[in-house]
Amino acid sequence: MQLFHVRYFFFCAICFVAVAFATALFDPVDAQTPASTIWTVPEVGALPSDPYGLQVRRGRDLITATYAHIGPEIPDTAKRFAGNNLACGNCHLQAGTKKFGLPIFGLFDLFPQYSARRGAEITIEDRVNSCMVRSLNGRQLPDDSPDMQAIVAYIKFLSSGVAPGQKLQGFGAGAMPELKRAADPVRGKLIYANSCLACHNTDGSGIRRSLPTTDLGYMVPPLWGPDSFNDGAGMARLITAANFVHFNMPHGVDYLNPELSVEQAWDVAAYVISQPRPQKTGLDKDFPDLVKKPIDTPYGPYADGFGERQHKYGPFAPIRAALARGKRTEP
Ligand code: HEC
Ligand code: HEC
Repeated sequence: MQLFHVRYFFFCAICFVAVAFATALFDPVDAQTPASTIWTVPEVGALPSDPYGLQVRRGRDLITATYAHIGPEIPDTAKRFAGNNLACGNCHLQAGTKKFGLPIFGLFDLFPQYSARRGAEITIEDRVNSCMVRSLNGRQLPDDSPDMQAIVAYIKFLSSGVAPGQKLQGFGAGAMPELKRAADPVRGKLIYANSCLACHNTDGSGIRRSLPTTDLGYMVPPLWGPDSFNDGAGMARLITAANFVHFNMPHGVDYLNPELSVEQAWDVAAYVISQPRPQKTGLDKDFPDLVKKPIDTPYGPYADGFGERQHKYGPFAPIRAALARGKRTEP
């Protein structure tokens, strides 16, 4: 019995140290373990070649090879809607079907929905166009254009079999624990050199495809610079970028087997978002209700008195606490 107590004591001491260490490093408040559920995706190839089947296939092509159909270098200038050579599928991985790879699976019935960024209700077409003008740094596709209708048909097709109101696991990019300190672009630069540079290039410009017949699109997309997403894009926000990187990069990892540590993911994402990229005008008009502005929006104005730097790199817990107290804190 005596021996048991001694062992028990040591065991608890080790646990205590481990827990203390983990709490010192990470802020567990927002930790949320992604649960695994069955994730079935309807098969596009099984659709007949009738007008509907062709429209859904066209929608998928627009997602996986956006640059080739509405990109800034296609011959038909009237169809140049995207301002960069990314594909929607560079971020909405596996044609929008990957869990925590920003899926566009199973969400058709969530629209129309309130958008804090717009301060009004938005349709699925509005949401697609929000990525068109920010992630693709381009202009809006008209709602009634065949290409917008094809994208929406594909998104709707991905929701077939999902009952309205059914809650699916795997939306967004996940939610790993936050750091108690600010994410650090200087540490991130080293992680970039070790884990990203070989694919995304020294200057973040990615690797273009250069087949003899076409030079459209990227083998590896750029992370910053003139052909990247602009500063108003969701990927330019630290929490989104860090989780996306943690659960999806280096290319090939998934949420069950991440390769970077949580800390590395925050720091390397901080490095990526610290780099220059196209600038969107009118960002100060986003989020008319400032209290609903996501905490990591890297541009003001803000309701809480904290400055752009802390909103961009964290730590976020003090901002949340101040917002919860509902009082202004000087930066
Ligand atoms: C540079 C990365 C990037 C590219 C390229 C991109 N998106 Fe997005 N998209 C995002 C991010 C980040 C979000 C926000 C996800 C969230 O709120 O969790 C998003 C959200 C969305 C949503 C809403 C998803 C949801 O969970 O509510 C849709 C639909 C969407 N994008 C469609 C598209 C389409 C169509 C294209 C191409 C025309 C595109 N996106 C290109 C990054 C990107
Ligand atoms: C093995 C090559 C490879 C490595 C290593 C790699 N990536 Fe990627 N990355 C890709 C590819 C390919 C895509 C596009 C995915 C697709 O289209 O399916 C991508 C997409 C991305 C995107 C979204 C698209 C965009 O252009 O913004 C981000 C952000 C990103 N990677 C960040 C990183 C970071 C940070 C690292 C290092 C931790 C990293 N990647 C390591 C190949 C790689």
